[in-house]
Amino acid sequence: MFTSGHCSLEARVVDITTLALDAIVNAANSSLLGGGGVDGAIHRAAGRALLRECETLGGCATGDAKITAGYQLPAKHVIHAVGPVWQGGGRGEAELLASCYRRSLELAGQARCESIAFPAISCGIYRFPAEEAVGIAVGTVVDTLPRIPAIEQVVFACFDDAMFAHYQAALGRLG
Ligand code: AR6
Repeated sequence: MFTSGHCSLEARVVDITTLALDAIVNAANSSLLGGGGVDGAIHRAAGRALLRECETLGGCATGDAKITAGYQLPAKHVIHAVGPVWQGGGRGEAELLASCYRRSLELAGQARCESIAFPAISCGIYRFPAEEAVGIAVGTVVDTLPRIPAIEQVVFACFDDAMFAHYQAALGRLG
């Protein structure tokens, strides 16, 4: 467990759909109408009502996020963030990924969430290199938290041990 100000930060190998937190973040696409990876898992666990709410949102730009209810998930809210597709690193991918984390925390704060879990946005189907993505994730969350004092707990949900090791290394560098 690591801390930043009054907030705890931890990496866990866990299926994000099982977490009973105020918000979980989805690695969505700009249609917000579901897909594979963590997006598919979240929609399956939340039920059809989540898709019906997403259909009202008009999609979402890359680097931005939108919030819905959690429906049948143990989490109260889902924050759907749209990460960039990795195209070699010269198309603003790093800044777009950082923006996903900032926007997700802003929406969580507006919804008075105290706890939030992130998956490794863009690190699956969108092929963002994991080590760089994790550095951006941890760095952006730590830089943004002082503006969002409601948040007391951040979980980085990892699907496997290799991803967990990247987060432990990045969190360990916080000192
Ligand atoms: N819990 C935690 N992490 C998970 C879970 C889970 N249940 N399932 C997968 N991961 P991805 P992206 C990890 O592909 O790269 C969808 O089709 C996974 O191992 O879900 O942002 C969307 O609709 C990886 O580390 O998201 C978009 O079209 C990370 O979550 C596209 O994929 C993200 O992998 C988004 O691609």
